[in-house]
Amino acid sequence: MATVLGFNGSPRVGGNTDRLVQRVLAGAEAAGAQTRLIQLSTLDFGSCTACMSCRCRPACALEDEMSGIVQEIFAADAVVIGSPIYMWQVTGLTKLFMDRLYPVLGPDFKTRLSRKPKLVLAFTQGHPDAAFFRPYFEQVRSVLGFLGFTVTEVLTVTGTRAPEDIEKQADILARADAAGKALA
Ligand SMILES: Cc1cc2nc3c(=O)[nH]c(=O)nc-3n(C[C@H](O)[C@H](O)[C@H](O)COP(=O)(O)O)c2cc1C
Repeated sequence: MATVLGFNGSPRVGGNTDRLVQRVLAGAEAAGAQTRLIQLSTLDFGSCTACMSCRCRPACALEDEMSGIVQEIFAADAVVIGSPIYMWQVTGLTKLFMDRLYPVLGPDFKTRLSRKPKLVLAFTQGHPDAAFFRPYFEQVRSVLGFLGFTVTEVLTVTGTRAPEDIEKQADILARADAAGKALA
């Protein structure tokens, strides 16, 4: 059975990004995967301290909840990372999470992710134009590909402001469901 980890990088639990990530996970579950959703806003974790311990071993030296999550990512078949756009970028929470993924790179900057987990990126934005942040999404996609993930889908939900706005967008929810099914 495939294991899929989902991360919501929005501080708004129950908001659009949370709902989008949950929809991808629901698709994966419907196709037989085992899933787990992690709210980054309630995860006890801090910033990378550049101790460089992970240059020598595939683990994080910090004693917080993210160190265990890194080990779960090594074992996962697939991952979903969701973030709203804040100030044209992912949220600070999501960036903090991405910085803490440094242990997945070896000292030669080659990936230590031997399973090459599939990855769905799930973005939400207030801006109505889906093309507006596309170059930025491509950059995020590239860095996560460099880390060793196999990016299978980049979902973008536009025009979301109130927490439940996404529910009016049946087409993107269907795409999220399909992207999840493909992870299983
Ligand atoms: C601090 C802050 C900054 C934001 N910056 C942007 C932005 O630069 N571009 C944009 O399109 N939307 C921006 N938004 C809107 C959010 O991306 C949008 O409402 C998103 O769907 C919120 O996700 P959530 O419902 O999961 O919290 C911003 C929202 C906040 C709170």
